[in-house]
Amino acid sequence: MSSLHIAAEKGEVAERILLPGDPLRAKYIAEHFLDGAKEYTSIRNILGYTGTYHGVPVSVQGTGMGMPSISIYVNELMDCYGVQKLIRVGTCGGMHEKVKLRDVFIAQGATTDSGMIRSIFGSSINYAPLADYELLSAAVENAKRMNLPVRVGNVISVDRFYDEEIDNNKLRAYGVLAVEMEAAALYTLAAKYGRQALALFTVSDHLLTGEKCTAGERQTTFNDMIKIALETAVG
Ligand code: HPA
Repeated sequence: MSSLHIAAEKGEVAERILLPGDPLRAKYIAEHFLDGAKEYTSIRNILGYTGTYHGVPVSVQGTGMGMPSISIYVNELMDCYGVQKLIRVGTCGGMHEKVKLRDVFIAQGATTDSGMIRSIFGSSINYAPLADYELLSAAVENAKRMNLPVRVGNVISVDRFYDEEIDNNKLRAYGVLAVEMEAAALYTLAAKYGRQALALFTVSDHLLTGEKCTAGERQTTFNDMIKIALETAVG
C-alpha cells in the first residue's frame, strides 16, 4: 500500500536514495545517471524513481523546498518504505570567504532556526543535527578519488529564504559557511529513525559577493555532486 504522499508500493523504493528538492532534478538524475529507472510516484508532481547504479538499486525522490516539505518525504521514506541511506543533493548559498561559488559543499552539521527542531526539544536544548560520519567520510574519500574538490563544514538550515532579520555576520563569525533550507530536518529525522543521512550541495549563489551561477555552471557542478552522491550511496 502506498503512503500518503508517495505512490510507491512497498519494495519499489530502494534502501539508498538521493533527495533533490526539485522534482525535475529527480527526473534528470534518473534519466542520466541510473540504469532502468522506473517512476514510482508523481503525487503533486513530486517525482520519484528507482533504478540501479553499478548494479545496485538506488532511488531518487524530489522533496520540495524547506523543512516542512522534506520532513513529509523522509518520514514516509523511512517509516513506510524502510529507506536506510538518504543523501540530499541540493544547492546552498555561500556565506563565508572559505566557500566559493560552484564549490561542492558537504554539511557536517546543520545549525538551524527551525521551529520544527524547537518543537521537538523545547527551548532549553540546542540539539546538534549531524551528518552520518560513515557517509561523510566516504563522500570526502570519493570526491578525492574523483579529483573533485569539496568543502566540509557547518551550514545553517533556515526556515525563511527571504529573511532580513537573521544575523549572517554573527553566523559567519562562528564558522557557519553556507545557508540552505533542509539539512537540519533531514539529519534530525534520520537520527530519530536510526538511519544514515548526508547533505551535499553546490554553491549556487554567494551572500558576500552577490554572485550567482549561470545555468551552464549549475549543471556542471550539479553533475559532479551527483557522481559523489551516487558513489557514496552504493559504497
Ligand atoms: N538561502 C537559502 N537557501 C538557499 C540559498 C540561499 O541563499 N541558496 C540556495 N539555497
